[in-house]
Amino acid sequence: CRHSLSVIPGPRPLPLIGNAFDVGNTPTALFNNCVNLLSQYGDIFKVFIGNECKVFVANADFLEEIMSSNVHITKSNAYKLIKPLKFGLATSTGSKWRQRRKLIAPTFHFKILDQFLEVFNASTDILVTKLSSEVGKDWTDIYPYINLLSLDVICETAMGVKISSQEGKNSEYAQALFRYLDIVIARAFSAWKRFDFLFQFSSEYPLQEKYLETLQKFSTNIIEKRRLEKSQQVVEKTPDFGIKRRVALLDVLLESDLTNEDIEEEINTFMFGGHDSTSSLVTFALLALADNPTIQQNVYEEVLGVVGEAKYVSMQHLQDTKYLEMVIKEAQRKYTSVPFVERHLEEDATICGIDFPRGTTLSLYLYGVHHNEKYFPEPEKFDPERFLPDRQSEGHNYAFVPFSAGPRNCVGQKFAMLDVKLIIVKILQKFKILQVPGYKPELGMAAQLKSYNGMRLRLRRRDTKN
Ligand code: HEM
Repeated sequence: CRHSLSVIPGPRPLPLIGNAFDVGNTPTALFNNCVNLLSQYGDIFKVFIGNECKVFVANADFLEEIMSSNVHITKSNAYKLIKPLKFGLATSTGSKWRQRRKLIAPTFHFKILDQFLEVFNASTDILVTKLSSEVGKDWTDIYPYINLLSLDVICETAMGVKISSQEGKNSEYAQALFRYLDIVIARAFSAWKRFDFLFQFSSEYPLQEKYLETLQKFSTNIIEKRRLEKSQQVVEKTPDFGIKRRVALLDVLLESDLTNEDIEEEINTFMFGGHDSTSSLVTFALLALADNPTIQQNVYEEVLGVVGEAKYVSMQHLQDTKYLEMVIKEAQRKYTSVPFVERHLEEDATICGIDFPRGTTLSLYLYGVHHNEKYFPEPEKFDPERFLPDRQSEGHNYAFVPFSAGPRNCVGQKFAMLDVKLIIVKILQKFKILQVPGYKPELGMAAQLKSYNGMRLRLRRRDTKN
């Protein structure tokens, strides 16, 4: 039997502003309110932002219908706030998206990922050296360290450009990227700044323009540099910008019939999409290890057995650290790095027996499904055993979807898993991670799940007792 949208429960909307107060206008309010709405109304609920109806979905059957569909692939309007992405792979739809996906997805196949391990290793070694000077302190906010590492890694692997942001270089680009993303988040939750016309009158507007110019210069520079290198067949290392390795993604883009402007949107897509979600996952996984010392000890023993003291972490090592993989998956479930993704229905549609009018926004609430007791009993408990291979096969295929699923899933998921594993292996080889007494992360959700009071941990050297 079929139902209309009116069967979906949700708080009563007010005229003009809809449910703006129920949802909140900061990442932390949004996070807390959505958790409460989920427990109050169940795994499908609706809210109105102005007159736009958003349906939050934390139900695996429903997610399966949307994610596996070749029709419901259009992203919601919220993605348009991230201007430099324009309509690249993550934001385009229809035939343009299909063409880009076909071109780009193969650049992340296994063989290429193997070459990237060299970069993962070298960049993480820099991190470990930097963290050494944090050992013994009362606490360290680990987030900025991991964020610069992720930025260096994505830039060097996908673009072939070494920016050394961990060592304080190219800080203008790194700062512009981070600050620009902060402005996007502020706009997404503001009643008036979301509108381009009104936003021009805000204090952030001139800053946004400045940051955008820096980002633009960076991507133009990368393209020019690589075109020049290719035309001159440069193979030797240049002092600090450009490396000799074949650059999978950027080269594929340059060899295609895309224009410079098209390529810039993809560079931005990868710089934006590739660094923040990885930082979120690594930092929350480290928090989980600090909060659960026995689990940390088990992971450490596995690392000792599989990798030992080896300085170079290989693909084989990463494939053999199975328990660590379960721990990372559980971290993704409990602290879902991309807490929701959005679709815009371009046509009227019937999904799981409910008729949706065109124009409806579907918020696929990944954090919500990962905390749905139907699929994960005692959802607040951190329990990697949930991901034992035989237990996983019993569950619903769409109950654990941290990288989304179906045709619009994450193209970087294998890349991300290898990178995250390697970072944790190298950190655990050297350090014991401890909780900071009295510290509790303040969770907020924007494009990524983040802690808005930093990610505080205590680091101790493995070879000492304290
Ligand atoms: C832990 C790390 C990561 C997580 C949790 C994650 C998660 C996701 C999710 C949930 C989506 C679907 C978004 C949507 O439907 O709106 C997505 C898409 C995407 N991700 Fe990731 N991602 C991660 C890392 C990466 C990395 C490292 C890269 C690049 C190397 C990347 C590149 C992309 C791209 C290009 C898309 C768009 C794909 C398309 O629309 O066809 N991601 N990611």
